Amino acid sequence: MQRLEDRVAVVTGGASGIGLATVRRFAQEGAKVVIADVDETTGKNVAEEVGGLFVRADVTSEDDVREMYAFAENSYGSVDIAFNNAGISPPDDDSILETGIDAWRRVQEVNLTSVYLCCKHVIPYMRERRRGSIINTASFVAVMGAATSQISYTASKGGVLAMSRELGVQFAREGIRVNALCPGPVNTPLLQELFAKDPERAARRLVHIPVGRFAEASEIAAAVAFLASDDASFITASEFLVDGGISGAYVTPLP
Ligand SMILES: NC(=O)c1ccc[n+]([C@@H]2O[C@H](COP(=O)([O-])OP(=O)(O)OC[C@H]3O[C@@H](n4cnc5c(N)ncnc54)[C@H](O)[C@@H]3O)[C@@H](O)[C@H]2O)c1
Repeated sequence: MQRLEDRVAVVTGGASGIGLATVRRFAQEGAKVVIADVDETTGKNVAEEVGGLFVRADVTSEDDVREMYAFAENSYGSVDIAFNNAGISPPDDDSILETGIDAWRRVQEVNLTSVYLCCKHVIPYMRERRRGSIINTASFVAVMGAATSQISYTASKGGVLAMSRELGVQFAREGIRVNALCPGPVNTPLLQELFAKDPERAARRLVHIPVGRFAEASEIAAAVAFLASDDASFITASEFLVDGGISGAYVTPLP
């Protein structure tokens, strides 16, 4: 499929996991892709692999975010798709009883303030052309609670979800769609790191997933490519769950 021919996409956190899989999928579908990340070495390799461009950007920096979109516009002539996906899930973000204010603030900055900055600075480009698709990565934890809490992460993703909904409504009549992608747990370095030391922790989560496994990053990327494309032309302000049925489950099938 070449649904993204002539589209320019900027992917934050494009050097790893969901972002990397999406960069590859966007490129396969014909988009010109700008990979934005703090990881320069991997980011440059990915850009080379897909024939795109790399820009070093820390999404918590307003200057970096502004320059990242200016770079995309100057290089390729427009910014049609923004996948605001960079995020962190550090181990010192845990139960509210354990999580200190520094961990709380860092996660809010990287996961939520970054999405505010990215939307704020990409929307003007899209308004000019009356066309654009913004996909902000939230999480299924934005819509359901976990007793194994990462309190700042969950709160940040709730913020991403609410902000995306509001922006989707505000800019709908200007041709700009804004959706919150809510992935279930994905088999990526972020999750692998979290569960490597504790297989019981992984098993405790698997039991809640009707399909019985974590997602592959390419399965999330397929949903992002759909949301980015005109196939999703009537989808905006949505809470787009790609979660293997987790949020719909009460009792799951036996193995
Ligand atoms: N992995 C999961 O199970 C899962 C589930 C739901 C939602 N998510 C969300 O999906 C997104 C991607 O997660 P992933 O699992 O692919 O993570 P990942 O760790 O594999 O990749 C994240 C990328 O973001 C980059 N990054 C981190 N901080 C940055 C910053 N300040 N500026 C620019 N780039 C930065 C990293 O260098 C890395 O390349 C995150 O927002 C995460 O919260 C992940």
